[in-house]
Amino acid sequence: MTQVSSEGFGTLPDGRPVRRFTLSSDSVTLRVLSFGAILTSLETKDRDGQTADIVLGFDNLEGYINKHPYFGAVIGRVANRIAEGKFSIDGKDYQLPINNGPNSLHGGLKGFDKVLWTPEVVPNGVRFSMTSADGEQGYPGELKVWVTYVLNGEELAINYKAKTTKTTPINLTNHSYFNLAGHGTPKIYDHEVSIEAESYLPVDKTLIPTGEIASVMNTYFDLRNPVLLGSHIENKLTEGFDHNFCLSFSKQRSPCARVFHQPSGRLLEVETTQPGIQFYTANFLDGSLKGKEGATYPKHSAFCLETQNWPNAVNKKNFPDALLRPGEEYNHTTWFKFSVRQ
Ligand code: GLA
Repeated sequence: MTQVSSEGFGTLPDGRPVRRFTLSSDSVTLRVLSFGAILTSLETKDRDGQTADIVLGFDNLEGYINKHPYFGAVIGRVANRIAEGKFSIDGKDYQLPINNGPNSLHGGLKGFDKVLWTPEVVPNGVRFSMTSADGEQGYPGELKVWVTYVLNGEELAINYKAKTTKTTPINLTNHSYFNLAGHGTPKIYDHEVSIEAESYLPVDKTLIPTGEIASVMNTYFDLRNPVLLGSHIENKLTEGFDHNFCLSFSKQRSPCARVFHQPSGRLLEVETTQPGIQFYTANFLDGSLKGKEGATYPKHSAFCLETQNWPNAVNKKNFPDALLRPGEEYNHTTWFKFSVRQ
């Protein structure tokens, strides 16, 4: 049984109150806000039963209201980049606000991470809903969105549903930054990662996929067997990972990633219905943010496993379909399982 409780977590500048929900099972306790549907903390035990909070974040609401690198947030209407913020649907051209080099990133100037969602307690969890207006941040159609966090024992499931009144691109994910040694530990080089992908997307200088679906064979992107991030990043890929790995198009629940932290014994296993996973090793963190409990978060102090559609899919015919049409339901789930190994 998961205990669900809630409390106030400050007010937005316009006076609206934000609530924080706590979901607690025998082995995991997590907290999530009605603002941005942001996962603010996730406590799990190591192999000796010691608890640590393994996601990056802030102590108070102000940290999340200010500009930050999307710690723990739900990202939408379209996660990751759309090249030059342009796309066309049924012969009509759309231009989104540009907020990342020449591109549109993570939903634009005010993405779903900056929205106050309506919460509702459900069995073992909490559901957040919101409506994104027709034309908001340049996107067509009124979009209704539901994001549900459910904790069962050691497994967190995040389900994303949406419906639209006009055909729109959509790509929803959660942008948690994990460090299995505990947030605030300076590097993730002692983490072993594997990703079950035979191909990945090479990117241009602005991090837009070139369009090639490249085999991981004989490259640093072959993570099908576990690699230690330290030897991999420090010696070979100096900037770290910020790439989409290509998964099955089947929409069936499938294992996609596994991260093991030998010193603590913590193991994170990820399964998803999504066709892609953006593996990002926090290359843009620079230690300047003041995190929870006075922690600082330098480069490579966390990793993100953003299960999602492929970046810029709306502009690439050979990428999975990025459009949601009226009458259809967008429905994806990602499962994060937290356990320990000797
Ligand atoms: C995603 C992107 C990164 C970066 C972060 C946010 O992971 O792929 O390039 O923009 O979000 O800082």
